[in-house]
Amino acid sequence: MRYPEEIIEEVRMKNDIVDVVSGYVRLQKKGSSHFGLCPFHNEKSPSFSVSGSKQMFYCFGCGAGGNVFTFVMNYENYTFGEAVKLLADRAGVNLPELEYSEEMKQKENYRARLLEVNKEAAKYFYYQLRAPQGEGGLRYLEGRGLSGETIKKFGLGYSNKTSSDLTKYLKQKGYEDKLLQDAGLASFDERYGMHDKFWNRVMYPIQDINHRVIGFGGRVMGDGTPKYLNSQETQIFDKSRNLYGLNFARTARAGNIILCEGYMDVIALHQAGFTQAVASLGTAFTAGQANLLRRYTENVLLAYDSDGAGVNAALRAIGILKEVDLTGKVIDMSPYKDPDEFIKNLGKEAFQERIDGAENSFLFEIRILEREYDVKDPEEKTKFHKEIARRLCGFTVEVERENYLEAIAEKYNIGFEHLRRLVNTYASQTGLAKPIERPKSGVKQKNTPEENAKRMQRLLLTWLTDEPSLYLKIQKYISPQDFTEDLYRQVAEKLFAGMQGGSYNPADIISMFEDEEQQREVASLFNAKLEAVSTKKEREKAFHDILVAVKKNSLEYASQNLGSDIQAITRVVEGKRALQELEKTHISVD
Ligand code: CTP
Ligand code: MN
Repeated sequence: MRYPEEIIEEVRMKNDIVDVVSGYVRLQKKGSSHFGLCPFHNEKSPSFSVSGSKQMFYCFGCGAGGNVFTFVMNYENYTFGEAVKLLADRAGVNLPELEYSEEMKQKENYRARLLEVNKEAAKYFYYQLRAPQGEGGLRYLEGRGLSGETIKKFGLGYSNKTSSDLTKYLKQKGYEDKLLQDAGLASFDERYGMHDKFWNRVMYPIQDINHRVIGFGGRVMGDGTPKYLNSQETQIFDKSRNLYGLNFARTARAGNIILCEGYMDVIALHQAGFTQAVASLGTAFTAGQANLLRRYTENVLLAYDSDGAGVNAALRAIGILKEVDLTGKVIDMSPYKDPDEFIKNLGKEAFQERIDGAENSFLFEIRILEREYDVKDPEEKTKFHKEIARRLCGFTVEVERENYLEAIAEKYNIGFEHLRRLVNTYASQTGLAKPIERPKSGVKQKNTPEENAKRMQRLLLTWLTDEPSLYLKIQKYISPQDFTEDLYRQVAEKLFAGMQGGSYNPADIISMFEDEEQQREVASLFNAKLEAVSTKKEREKAFHDILVAVKKNSLEYASQNLGSDIQAITRVVEGKRALQELEKTHISVD
């Protein structure tokens, strides 16, 4: 479901990217671009650039990039459609109604009603907390050290003792029984009819990243059971894809996210200034949640309970974080049970120290493992060492494995060479002797011939968008087919067609790709880092080198991959001729 291209383009043109980004990031003009601190990764010196002429942003640090839509999508975590809507509103463009199927319309409508009724309920609970009947609730929350401001920030509330006043209230506002049941706010039974799900509890509304209430947790005020009652999963409440507190944490930009177990932990941490704290929703941490976190940080600090259950949960969470390539560290909470108690007793400075000293997750795992062995007994000790060796084999990148080996050998007083031999023995036994070096995702391998070829193609596209007048001078030598990477070729086709027609627009080209990853990559094509050379002669040589490299690569590629039909051969022959001519030709660069 998409808006017509012309409308999308109109919205884009009416939202100058420098204006829009300035609303989120402080920018400074430097040359033809604006620079600021990248909102998509943690950095101290600005590598985030916004170009008014290209209507694009690009971060030289983390590679985030795109046009104004991409920016809003990344920053607000919106879908493309949502970003178009936001920017259309901002510029006063009227969007046409999208043609949805009847079924989709109904589903969307129902979701909207669920959100609405949750919002009404949250308001109701919030109001009750401040009414005379909510006094017990308010006293409970204050007794746990929460300030009025914190209670307000998290929208905490209270559900009455009487067992169906919320239901009555919502029905009177026009919400039907089925909706209340589907939202998990009320249930029906033969004896009592419709009645509230939550009563006599302090209420924690659960919000999605856009601050919309999607469910509730309700806590007894004291020692009753169950301690927490949570909304069931609904069409709008997916417990494995939301995190408590993420609506605030996502803009904290602390360089890490603190993952806790409990709602109260999140609230206490935020109150103490650690607004990067989040928690899972009364369920175990999931891969979906790990993926969600990955959008905001690479570093997750686990602040789980220090008891046995908490340690096990932490071990599981570490495994899940690893799967999505996030680095986990563990915050030591001792001698307290959880972050809430820790802060209350030792204060925020002490907690910051624990953050700074958080333990590497592998070292944490080994430390916990040690508890299972009686290391005074030589046999047990050997088993422990063997298990360490087995786990060290899990690091397939050699330097990483060596570094851990060193750290562990020192910490547990095992001879480095002994441990290494044990690792090697283990590796050969299990066929891991020559582990394949697998680059971690996100870490780019440099300098393979393919990478180099791609880099040259990126440099050429960037240079041409910076100086479009050059295109006319080179079109005779270079065509979109010389771009051997699929995506690059598509971009070159669009760009060159535009340049021939006298109007080209890189930001518009980005909109043609729907996938966010593709948009990011396309943006990188227009923002390759050109080497800083100063004289005209040097610039001309650099440009010439790039052209020749692109052409050479294209020829090699063609002779290897195109087969031997006449067309392919002609292309190679013509390419060779063009290359020879190009090598002799002087192309002036202004
Ligand atoms: N939880 C739950 N149902 C329970 C107990 C716990 O859903 N019966 C979930 C809640 O999300 C809770 C989290 O597990 O926040 C952690 O539990 P716990 O540490 O017991 O709760 P705290 O958040 O620390 O709450 P409090 O400090 O008020 O005891
Ligand atoms: Mn607690």
